[in-house]
Amino acid sequence: MIKIAPSILSADFTKLGAEVEEVAAAGADYIHVDVMDGMFVPNISIGVPVVKSLRRATDMFLDVHLMIDRPIRYVEQFCKAGADLVNFHVEADSVGNTLRAIQVAHSLGKKAGVTLKPKTPADAVLPFLPYVELVLLMTVEPGFGGQRFMQDQLPKINIVRGYIENKAPGCELEVDGGIDEETAPLAAHAGAHVLVAGSAIFGKADRAAAIQAIRNHTMNL
Ligand code: DX5
Ligand code: ZN
Repeated sequence: MIKIAPSILSADFTKLGAEVEEVAAAGADYIHVDVMDGMFVPNISIGVPVVKSLRRATDMFLDVHLMIDRPIRYVEQFCKAGADLVNFHVEADSVGNTLRAIQVAHSLGKKAGVTLKPKTPADAVLPFLPYVELVLLMTVEPGFGGQRFMQDQLPKINIVRGYIENKAPGCELEVDGGIDEETAPLAAHAGAHVLVAGSAIFGKADRAAAIQAIRNHTMNL
């Protein structure tokens, strides 16, 4: 069964605890936390204090997506704040520093992932594949919720799933951006194990129904 990771970027931040509780009760698998620095992406969202608060509010798996320059500068803080997994964009630093950031996460008992923007070729994951628990593929340009799913990314999802099957069978493949009940089956069919959805869940009044709709559309694939 596909895993679903609601992105709190589209949640109501004045009642974040209740928002997370609602999707947890509705069967969400991970909570996806989008961190933006206004440099790596043209938007600013949330940071370490919010991860710390979330950690006190929930036992859910916190999947932290760092859209920040040189994330090695902050990996320790996010891990200590309570992230369960930290995703590093391969475009945000050198291969060496990204490998070091992965090592830091592991040394603090956390999982690590690498993330690719839409224009970054699939083979950019290869230097990291032996070391990460997750690969996150973007199906929108990172920075904002509510954008359209880029269908031209489907072959890349398929290629990366192939790499994972051959070289790192335990690794999960997560897809992020424009996922709703129409696009979820496309991403799942192409090979995603985990689907991030922000506006398609937190933008709806009935979050449980929204999660169920994505689940129903990805059954029997
Ligand atoms: C975009 C973020 C996504 C975003 C997804 O930069 O990484 O996680 O919240 O939002 P939707 O599902 O609305 O495209
Ligand atoms: Zn994200």
